[in-house]
Amino acid sequence: MNPRDDAETGETENLQGRLCVPIPSEAPCKQVQETLSGVVKNVHRKLRRKYREVGDFDKIWREHCEDEQTLSEYALAMKNLADNHWTKKCEGEGRIEWCRSVCQEYFLDGGMKRMLEKDEKSAALALGLSGQVLSPTPSSVSPLGKIRLLDVGSCFNPFLKFDEFLTVGIDIVPAVESVYKCDFLNLQLQQPLQLAGDAVEAFLRHLHSPIDALPAQLFHVVVFSLLLSYFPSPYQRWICCKKAHELLELHGLLLIITPDSSHQNRHALMMRSWRVAVESLGFKRYKYVKYSHMHLIAFRKVSVATTSDLVSRNYPEMLYIPQDFNSNEEEECGNAPPQALRSDYEDDQLAWGFAELPDTPYDSDSGESQSSSLPGFHEFEDPILLQS
Ligand SMILES: C[S@@+](CC[C@H](N)C(=O)[O-])C[C@H]1O[C@@H](n2cnc3c(N)ncnc32)[C@H](O)[C@@H]1O
Repeated sequence: MNPRDDAETGETENLQGRLCVPIPSEAPCKQVQETLSGVVKNVHRKLRRKYREVGDFDKIWREHCEDEQTLSEYALAMKNLADNHWTKKCEGEGRIEWCRSVCQEYFLDGGMKRMLEKDEKSAALALGLSGQVLSPTPSSVSPLGKIRLLDVGSCFNPFLKFDEFLTVGIDIVPAVESVYKCDFLNLQLQQPLQLAGDAVEAFLRHLHSPIDALPAQLFHVVVFSLLLSYFPSPYQRWICCKKAHELLELHGLLLIITPDSSHQNRHALMMRSWRVAVESLGFKRYKYVKYSHMHLIAFRKVSVATTSDLVSRNYPEMLYIPQDFNSNEEEECGNAPPQALRSDYEDDQLAWGFAELPDTPYDSDSGESQSSSLPGFHEFEDPILLQS
């Protein structure tokens, strides 16, 4: 985008009026983008640093949510990046399109039905009934009105423009009016509504900000797009996944997008770990794609009850990200790759051991996988923020 366009539309000026970080009015687009992504990354870093220093997550989270200046700068920066720096063709926008296409395929083009039939066959096989279907899967899954989608950490409500969704966007600091103010970590869950689909839709259309509580089993889809890496510890990521399970209807989808610019093998072990942790709650992985700068994973809810066996397994810790272990990040300049924990060779050895690579015929439920990842990327923190 031409920097002049910025000036003409007033985007940079408006933003400058509200951001403490100075953005020169004639700054080249790339520079503006780096400044904006710096605002976002600094918030993530500061949270992680405080968490390492203080340890008491509840305390630092309360202080964080009260820091309105920082949070509104963050919201504006994210919105500006989305509006002016992520073009249709780039991955920043692509993640939203990916979510949309997975939902269309699953809910509208028979994907869910195929999965249910597959589950039936596996269950029959396990009982020694040579693959015959035990109870016939309904020929069409109950007719849906709109696909009820909860976008957690929605910021600028990117799903609102799609007609097939009844979108509820929530955020601790909404960047646009249509997003409800809500802290998902502290959201209370209520008994499920015992209402017909159109009455549930009516209920969702009459929500008010701030949202403190929601009934369980309310949504067909929960989206965590670039949300989980916001949190400084795996435990909060785990709480979010557990809540998502509770908020979803049976067979609903949890879509997780998390940034990672490294080669797709590099964090195969980490992705395996995430899969085990999320599946332990009562999900089954449905699709997994590695784009150049992020992982995109779809899980379907396969059990009504939310399992949370925290005692015998370390499931929460399994939702780690590389930055959890990198205490030197403050000294790094924005584009320097963080300190590696293992050598690439060691990582590859581990990765092959787990075969969690999206472009090999692994045991994904759907049997489908794609990859747009190119080898040779260095890992940056929240790399997607710098893509255009
Ligand atoms: C990196 S932004 C992602 C925005 C958008 N989903 C996207 O993909 O571009 C992360 C967003 O999550 C929001 N967020 C962080 N913690 C949250 C929480 N506990 N509840 C709701 N939103 C939260 C932040 O305010 C921020 O807008």
